[in-house]
Amino acid sequence: MNFKMLSDNKAVITAYSPEESKDLGYLIGENLYPGFTILFFGGLGMGKTVVTQGIGNALGVKNVKSPTFIIVSEHEGVVPFVHADLYRLEKDSEVDFLDLENYLDQGCVLVVEWAEKWNINLTKDTFKITIEKTEEYENIRTITLEALGNKATKKLEQVISTLNDRGQQYDSTRN
Ligand SMILES: Nc1ncnc2c1ncn2[C@@H]1O[C@H](COP(=O)(O)OP(=O)(O)O)[C@@H](O)[C@H]1O
Ligand SMILES: [Mg+2]
Repeated sequence: MNFKMLSDNKAVITAYSPEESKDLGYLIGENLYPGFTILFFGGLGMGKTVVTQGIGNALGVKNVKSPTFIIVSEHEGVVPFVHADLYRLEKDSEVDFLDLENYLDQGCVLVVEWAEKWNINLTKDTFKITIEKTEEYENIRTITLEALGNKATKKLEQVISTLNDRGQQYDSTRN
């Protein structure tokens, strides 16, 4: 895994295996607090659930799954942790019906896969995570992490500083 800061509140991380993506999720999970939202963008098979498993593990939750028919899973973690997958829903109407914001008011950590379908404009306590794949390498993912709000930006700095301490700076000689 390596990383590069794109701006004060935005970093791009390259994960070379599912384990590395999960590990990044763990680092993110260690930095979350009640009311924090993670919005995942990126298509099927990108690794949203893999990263979410790492987040769940950091919160003491082991059974994070890719839900087939379950759209919202509520977990009892160190912090209550709600995992939503909007893939099967119609944009707006069906998503509004879930009232996801209510979970934030209740002090849960909220992780949303297929956030493209949620018409919401959060401005703080949020990470927007976009996962992309290169055509050439089946197991490499480019993970862009954008923090919204001062507190979230501090948390992003924390995640990056942990990677930095491990010596995982961006290496331009590695694809
Ligand atoms: N670097 C990587 N990061 C995450 N997943 C990867 C990576 N390389 C390969 N994979 C595989 O891609 C798939 C991602 O699945 P999943 O997390 O369910 O995707 P999504 O939730 O985005 O639909 C898994 O089978 C995983 O093993
Ligand atoms: Mg998924």
